[in-house]
Amino acid sequence: MSILGKTLQLRVNTLVYQGDGLGRYQGKAVFIPFTAPKDVVSCRIVEEKRSFLRGVAERVVIPSPLRVEPRCPHFTRCGGCQWQHLDYEAQLDAKREIFASALERNASVAKEVIEEIVPSPDQWGYRSRCLLRCKAEGGNNSIGFYSRKTREVVDVEECPILKPELNRILSLIRQRLKDVVYLFSDVQMEVGDEGAPRVMVGASSLAKRGEGKRLFSKATEALREVAETEGFSLLVRDSKGEVSILNQASEPQIKPLHGSEMTLKMDPLGFFQGNLDQNRNLVGLVLRLIDRFLPNPSQARVLDLFCGMGNLSVPLSTMCGEVVGVEAYPLAVDVAWRNARQNGVANVRFVKEKAERFLRSDGEEFQAVVMDPPRIGAKRETLLVAGLRPKLVIYVSCDPMTLARDLRELISVGYKVVSSTPIDMFPQTFHIESVTALTAL
Ligand SMILES: C[S@@+](CC[C@H](N)C(=O)[O-])C[C@H]1O[C@@H](n2cnc3c(N)ncnc32)[C@H](O)[C@@H]1O
Repeated sequence: MSILGKTLQLRVNTLVYQGDGLGRYQGKAVFIPFTAPKDVVSCRIVEEKRSFLRGVAERVVIPSPLRVEPRCPHFTRCGGCQWQHLDYEAQLDAKREIFASALERNASVAKEVIEEIVPSPDQWGYRSRCLLRCKAEGGNNSIGFYSRKTREVVDVEECPILKPELNRILSLIRQRLKDVVYLFSDVQMEVGDEGAPRVMVGASSLAKRGEGKRLFSKATEALREVAETEGFSLLVRDSKGEVSILNQASEPQIKPLHGSEMTLKMDPLGFFQGNLDQNRNLVGLVLRLIDRFLPNPSQARVLDLFCGMGNLSVPLSTMCGEVVGVEAYPLAVDVAWRNARQNGVANVRFVKEKAERFLRSDGEEFQAVVMDPPRIGAKRETLLVAGLRPKLVIYVSCDPMTLARDLRELISVGYKVVSSTPIDMFPQTFHIESVTALTAL
């Protein structure tokens, strides 16, 4: 008999990847968002499948001791955070457990090689970049984040996980854009460890021509004046995707290493990690793993696949013989070259190419490969990496599921996981960054 639409009282046992609480009804898994382990909730079943159910908690009957008061008024509507209702230690425990189980279940990685999770120094106010969406609908003008599961935009005045500088700019931008939101598609904001914040606004299709185009120019000119007075850079992306600079303040730069003067620039359309303290911890960990597992790093040739603007390649070049970075996004490669030059690094070079193509065409020898693919992982590239027979592979991942899939491949062709560390790059969310080292058997 179907239980769709029925209300059940359930105990939540644990948390799962993507953030939901997991309870059981007659042995079947029930996923319930915004619950905590040890909660007893009254939950309405909203989806019924052969192997699982989904529920919505209508009432918390017995609250878990792991619960805390969420800070953001948009929590549960906004798609950004899933775990503001959880004590930070509970978030860390859940991430470590989810990570270790994913690797054990899908790649038979022993739990003993999973290191302690690296906590974020800041649990709030840590995010150094964000992409806000703009939407004008039914008389409502919104600038904010996509809501959970839909493309509705939750209007956000302030976001507690954003760096305070970005919240301040958000407030200034909202004042200027609120009435003409329909002319904009998105607002990207970022701040580095040095330099001024950078904002890029994108035009909507309504700003393409005629009156819309004219009003768009007027609105961006008003923003330019704010940017000039407040000291941030302002870039505009028109409806064809062309980017122009309306106000140039000092370029933002990140510091990828603790205790070093090294600085790196980022391309506004390229990737860089959103939590700069944790990025330093991540880069430091990659260097320590090279030191620990690679004989004679100073003589070694290291391949950095998916290298972006050189966040790992440039620091690696300080301890390795030679580093080759491979990256598909052309503008990031240009910035990577600039980053090598501005840090006086001569033993690194960058190749503008898809990783798979590089691996298929290149006959070079590398003693270590560092790979940091996007969320989808490196299904096409993993066996090609193994084909180079490096002594050490370091896999930086932002998705434990695709990581586990790729580790299984590496293990099947003679590699062994020797260390794997989850890193909490994004407190208050379910996301898990990690660094895994494998050595050749
Ligand atoms: C997670 S980011 C890592 C960037 C860099 N390692 C860092 O630490 O900032 C992944 C990078 O892979 C690049 N990328 C995506 N698909 C690619 C492919 N098929 N070949 C090469 N690079 C790719 C993206 O442009 C992005 O810069």
